[in-house]
Amino acid sequence: MSKESKIVLTGDRPTGRLHLGHFVGSIKNRIKLQNEYDKSFYMIADIQGLTDNANNPQKVRDNVIEVMLDNLACGLDPEKTTMFIQSEVPEIAELTVIFLNLVTLARLKRNPTVKDEMKQKGFGEDVPAGFLCYPISQAADILFAKANLIPVGEDQLPVIEQANEIVDTFNRFYGDTFTKVKHLVGDTPRLIGIDGGVKMGKSLNNAIYLSDSFDEISKKVMSMYTDPDHIHVEDKGKVEGNVVFAYLDIFDSNKEEVSGLKEQYKKGGLGDVVIKKRLIQVLENIINPIRTKREELAENPEQVMKILEDGTKKARESAKETMAEVRKALKINYF
Ligand code: TRP
Repeated sequence: MSKESKIVLTGDRPTGRLHLGHFVGSIKNRIKLQNEYDKSFYMIADIQGLTDNANNPQKVRDNVIEVMLDNLACGLDPEKTTMFIQSEVPEIAELTVIFLNLVTLARLKRNPTVKDEMKQKGFGEDVPAGFLCYPISQAADILFAKANLIPVGEDQLPVIEQANEIVDTFNRFYGDTFTKVKHLVGDTPRLIGIDGGVKMGKSLNNAIYLSDSFDEISKKVMSMYTDPDHIHVEDKGKVEGNVVFAYLDIFDSNKEEVSGLKEQYKKGGLGDVVIKKRLIQVLENIINPIRTKREELAENPEQVMKILEDGTKKARESAKETMAEVRKALKINYF
């Protein structure tokens, strides 16, 4: 084992623009940790994106730049973070094939996140094998770099748990090679959707995107679910289950004022429009600088691709080192 350096790694599937759920669940941590860790990696998980978009490679291709713009606009810094494309590091695919032998089909089918996603996508038993196995390939995403901290949203915890099982089995079969990884979820591990649904998701149609315009933000906030019995301004209102207050709790930094508004709302005399207008401004204050930076970066897509090209070269160096070790451990280092 090389000396324990602190390595952080995360990634996104390039299947759509990123939203506020990504921001509070994982992106904020990425930005912070790139300053604190010895090494930081960020992966565009295009191969994982293809596991449920095999018939639509154009979608995956088009979104590579979109998720890069989202991350760069939020402050991920190519000087500090090695940003790379999964498919351009073939060692990850090699490692995945080796890991496939360490996980049973029954275990794959038990992963609650994969189960949820399969239900959501309507796969049933006809799930693509690659999709069912994505936790294995994600273990390879993480372990090729010998990363030890993974900032993710709460939904990814079962995937990280599987990665650690793979570490255990690998080390038991082939000798100490990998160390277990830790996850880090943000202070809001799971953001509810604008419809009040349990999770904000691009496929759930309930997301506010980091690239949304002021008008889009306004329209979405105005459509938010509040309290169905709060009809007249003077009516007493409920704060629990009220999406607008749930968001104010998370995004409004003036906690005192928010708690005052809650009291007023409960007593009666505070209209939905007032709290919605406040939330629109709060979200605009967060998204406006991201949107502006994003637009600037979008003018120069070649520069963004160059960041990925340089990062991928660097990532491959780590990958080659790890693969040499793995080949030796498995006695498949022939020539
Ligand atoms: N599965 C992650 C998601 O959907 C994306 C991802 C791929 C990832 N490889 C990773 C996250 C490695 C962390 C580490 O959000």
